[in-house]
Amino acid sequence: MREIKILAVVVFFTGLLYWGVEPFAHTKLHPHVPAPEYTFKDVDGLNGLTGDATKGAETVAANCTACHSITAVGFPAIMDDASNAAAYGVVPPDLSSAGKLYNADYLAAFIKDPAKASKTSHKYEDGHASHPMPAYNWMQPQEIADIVAYLQSIAPKEMTNKEVYSDACQRCHSIKYGDFYGGSMAAKTPDENIKSYMGVVPPDLSQMIRSRGEHYLHEFINDPQKHLAGTAMPRVGLTQESEEQVIGYLTEAGDSKKAEREALGGPFLGYLVIFAIFAWLWKIKIWREVH
Ligand code: HEC
Ligand code: HEC
Repeated sequence: MREIKILAVVVFFTGLLYWGVEPFAHTKLHPHVPAPEYTFKDVDGLNGLTGDATKGAETVAANCTACHSITAVGFPAIMDDASNAAAYGVVPPDLSSAGKLYNADYLAAFIKDPAKASKTSHKYEDGHASHPMPAYNWMQPQEIADIVAYLQSIAPKEMTNKEVYSDACQRCHSIKYGDFYGGSMAAKTPDENIKSYMGVVPPDLSQMIRSRGEHYLHEFINDPQKHLAGTAMPRVGLTQESEEQVIGYLTEAGDSKKAEREALGGPFLGYLVIFAIFAWLWKIKIWREVH
């Protein structure tokens, strides 16, 4: 009977901590932010226009390939990564997969005004330099829709998690444990260039899945300003699918044993139950001899 009372006291205080104190502490450490929003309702996007990919091809060739390579259709980079990084502060991404990675309305809004769409305008106030990519707000909305249609038409239908990560994040971030000793997942932009562009070297993402967790990463990647108001990291405008692939890659790189670990949960609880039964029986035996 005494054991049952002790158990009841332990269960009561554990429950109090778990359902009373912990959720309260959590709301203080991680204030609630609105859930990720993948339609990018706030941007001035396509506004229902459908583009013509053939016309878009010409507009892209005339406007974008001076800075961006598009290897899928044979536009090489004009400069190597080091010169690009020195010129723009960051290596401009190859646009081969842009039509798949980014939400179409976001992409249109980004071309129109990169700083506004990526929520980094605050960096260019007070006469500071402007975003390294020019705003194409002088173009007709139809021309921008054509560019989006073209980028969608050349994008691959399927990409691996690693490819999505690389195209969306690797120009700024390293994953030093990405390919263990190969080091191919180092950031494309050298530290000193990205530091002068962003004001800080973007953190290595190898262990972010463990230190921040999936839930936080979804909110943060979808809109960094929600968690770090004023941060230099741009909103990248990924579709929900691409964002899941990015987090999939962060999990493969930083928490490769997750599935194995979680699969152990059931058997481990089973082991504890069986062990508890034996411990109980043993205790009865010992006390029977003592009395
Ligand atoms: C003067 C060079 C320059 C030109 C011209 C240029 N860009 Fe960019 N673009 C950049 C740079 C630099 C970045 C990376 C900015 C960053 O990461 O903060 C970028 C980023 C992008 C991105 C990534 C967006 C995201 O959410 O991460 C897309 C898409 C893009 N550009 C499309 C285009 C298209 C389409 C054109 C032509 C209409 C174009 N760019 C013209 C320099 C340029
Ligand atoms: C143009 C450069 C740039 C790109 C592209 C970029 N980031 Fe970042 N990121 C940064 C910078 C700069 C910081 C540091 C922000 C700060 O300290 O305010 C950062 C911070 C982070 C953090 C840390 C957040 C925290 O709570 O400390 C995570 C996680 C992250 N980025 C993930 C990503 C992922 C995933 C992608 C690709 C989808 C990405 N970033 C694309 C520049 C970038």
